[in-house]
Amino acid sequence: MSTASSSDRIVKIAEMSARDGLQNEQQSISAECKIALVNRLADAGLRYIEAGSFVSPKWVPQMANSNVVFAGITRKNGVTYAALTPNMRGWENALAANVDEVAVFASASESFSQKNLNCDIATSLSRFEPVVAAARQHGIAVRGYVSCILDCPYDGAISPSSVEKVTHHLLAMGCYQVSLGDTIGTGTPGRTRTLLHYLNQTFKPEQLALHMHDTYGQAIANIFVGLDHGIRTFDASTAGLGGCPYAQGASGNVATEDLVYLLDREGFYHGIDLDELCRTGEWISQQLNKSYTARAGRGIRSKACI
Ligand code: HMG
Ligand code: MG
Repeated sequence: MSTASSSDRIVKIAEMSARDGLQNEQQSISAECKIALVNRLADAGLRYIEAGSFVSPKWVPQMANSNVVFAGITRKNGVTYAALTPNMRGWENALAANVDEVAVFASASESFSQKNLNCDIATSLSRFEPVVAAARQHGIAVRGYVSCILDCPYDGAISPSSVEKVTHHLLAMGCYQVSLGDTIGTGTPGRTRTLLHYLNQTFKPEQLALHMHDTYGQAIANIFVGLDHGIRTFDASTAGLGGCPYAQGASGNVATEDLVYLLDREGFYHGIDLDELCRTGEWISQQLNKSYTARAGRGIRSKACI
């Protein structure tokens, strides 16, 4: 394999379980449990871990102990520990917690922006500007999110041009990459292809990532479309944990186990120990009194596939 084609086979996984995975849990989850999760994920080989968010505890109480989590984790060389920051207050708290990277999160849909951030899209972007500027001054990279890239739970179908507009704003203000969120997991491969074909006319594939929730079991198929369009960063959540408090009924991101299995079988490099990851997925499911639902994880733990 040539060097060029080898590097094209490298995929980065942004691990979401400690943030997107847990933010919607109603039960109280101790900081110790979150710390153990983050440490186990790093031990399994994940190199980008979103470990919490510095949002209003009135809005998302589950993330209120993110500063304790950041203080308690064992930082591993080469691992980026990231957090969400919706405004300057969030940025200051993230800085104090010594985060490696922050993320700002906008929406392609006006109604979702109102529900999630209590403001319209334009206002949210204007609040992110100083966050991005301050982070960059401190040498801290900023990732952006755009939610509701295909459908909004309140506004219905979203046009590719709305996604393009917000993505452009986030990149222009200094985000190095924008993660495109199928927040409610209604996307299918054909619609994902149409959107990515449209966005590829404006953006380089490395400026984009996919964040596919798996509510309708379409996330892996949609990610495969992303791979075909040159995207090499995918968000995923161990054990498929998660959802969004402002998207009722949406389930978690694609299970990291399923994504790693796909990448292994399709000849992509990712650096993750799938057995260790599956043990972590089973462990966190037990901690949350949930059954372990990651398909590849269950297959591997039961030795159903060789
Ligand atoms: P607001 O109520 O309009 O803001 O909320 P405010 O400025 O009026 O502040 C209200 C209170 O919160 C005040 O406290 C502030 O001090 C405090 P009070 O004076 O009432 O005691 N406050 C904060 N506290 C801690 N940290 C902060 C902070 N900011 C204000 N950073 C706000 C606006 C943005 C704060 C709120 O809407 C919020 O926190 N939203 C976050 C919602 C959220 O976390 N959603 C889930 C993550 S996004 C997601 O899951 C989607 C994604 O996965 C991609 C996808 O799937 O599509 C990324
Ligand atoms: Mg999400």
